[in-house]
Amino acid sequence: MKKRFKTRQLLALLVISLLGFYIYGAQSGDDSPEYPTVQPIAFSHKIHAGENEIPCQYCHAYSSKAAHPGIPSVKSCMGCHNYVLGEDRDYDYNGVKINFKKEIEKLKGYWQRGEPMPWIKFHFVPQHARFKHKPHIRAGMECSECHGDVKDMDLVKPVHKIEMGFCISCHKVEQKTEQEMVKLAAEGKELVYLRDCNTCHY
Ligand code: HEC
Ligand code: HEC
Ligand code: HEC
Ligand code: HEC
Ligand code: HEC
Repeated sequence: MKKRFKTRQLLALLVISLLGFYIYGAQSGDDSPEYPTVQPIAFSHKIHAGENEIPCQYCHAYSSKAAHPGIPSVKSCMGCHNYVLGEDRDYDYNGVKINFKKEIEKLKGYWQRGEPMPWIKFHFVPQHARFKHKPHIRAGMECSECHGDVKDMDLVKPVHKIEMGFCISCHKVEQKTEQEMVKLAAEGKELVYLRDCNTCHY
């Protein structure tokens, strides 16, 4: 198991670095400065969720309904960006200068070509374990408990290493209120079910 996971991590790293080189290469002929992101465009959570206060679940609409929160399609980005063309504003994105108007024009390029945005994913749970957003969000948890202060990040990167220790550190029995314990018992679940191997492993 361990070996397989390591291979995956290596592959993911390889893909990310290859893409990084590709983006670097594709832009180095150009006058505009490169930004050190592996994402296809310099989408900023700080600008959207922070400055413009767009709620997380406006874009990640399945957070409380399914395993995966969902990433907005180019079409749903265009729901705003047909009208929001962006100021001619220079911005320090993780230490490198970008321009709002130019970045939004790149988004439009994907829309006009009918291409999906090839976003790169940074958060992974290996296939032998399961993680679903729904029960966590339904239990009233905030996104920031696991993802940190995303409102303040341009590029979102994991703040916790997603490994078993991280899950277990929070899956404590003491965390349950009396009411929750009664509810669990009524569902026939044992109090310690959050620490049972089968809760997270198939
Ligand atoms: C305007 C739409 C929008 C809003 C609002 C938004 N996101 Fe996102 N989110 C995205 C897009 C697009 C991606 C994929 C690109 C990326 O990773 O930056 C993403 C990716 C993520 C990722 C995964 C990063 C990865 O690569 O694995 C996390 C975690 C995340 N968002 C959390 C949040 C949280 C928490 C909030 C609220 C504070 C939020 N998002 C608000 C659009 C949005
Ligand atoms: C609810 C409306 C809304 C949605 C949905 C939305 N945006 Fe934005 N976006 C904005 C606003 C407002 C700004 C700030 C424009 C300004 O200040 O000139 C912005 C700025 C931007 C910028 C320039 C700043 C930066 O982040 O680099 C980019 C690029 C961008 N959006 C891409 C996207 C993408 C990609 C999506 C879909 C994943 C998306 N937007 C979804 C409202 C939205
Ligand atoms: C209990 C911890 C926890 C909480 C709370 C949490 N997340 Fe996550 N999130 C994760 C883990 C773990 C992953 C990696 C999941 C995977 O690989 O399936 C992830 C992945 C994501 C991704 C990337 C998904 C993808 O398919 O690329 C997004 C987007 C995201 N979370 C958004 C949110 C938002 C928005 C909230 C709040 C409404 C939230 N998360 C709350 C743990 C959490
Ligand atoms: C709360 C969720 C959760 C519970 C409960 C849990 N695990 Fe895990 N486990 C994970 C996650 C997530 C991973 C993958 C990340 C990692 O490798 O650390 C994992 C990884 C593992 C691995 C692979 C480790 C490696 O280095 O690749 C083994 C073996 C394992 N778990 C055994 C167990 C056993 C045995 C139990 C019961 C005593 C258990 N787990 C309970 C979430 C859980
Ligand atoms: C910050 C706290 C926290 C973290 C971190 C966390 N969990 Fe949980 N998790 C909870 C709570 C609380 C519940 C119980 C929700 C409820 O009452 O139904 C839960 C429930 C679950 C369940 C049972 C869902 C069901 O259908 O009953 C699974 C599976 C699970 N978590 C997996 C994970 C894995 C895998 C990770 C790590 C990647 C993780 N959790 C990280 C707090 C956390």
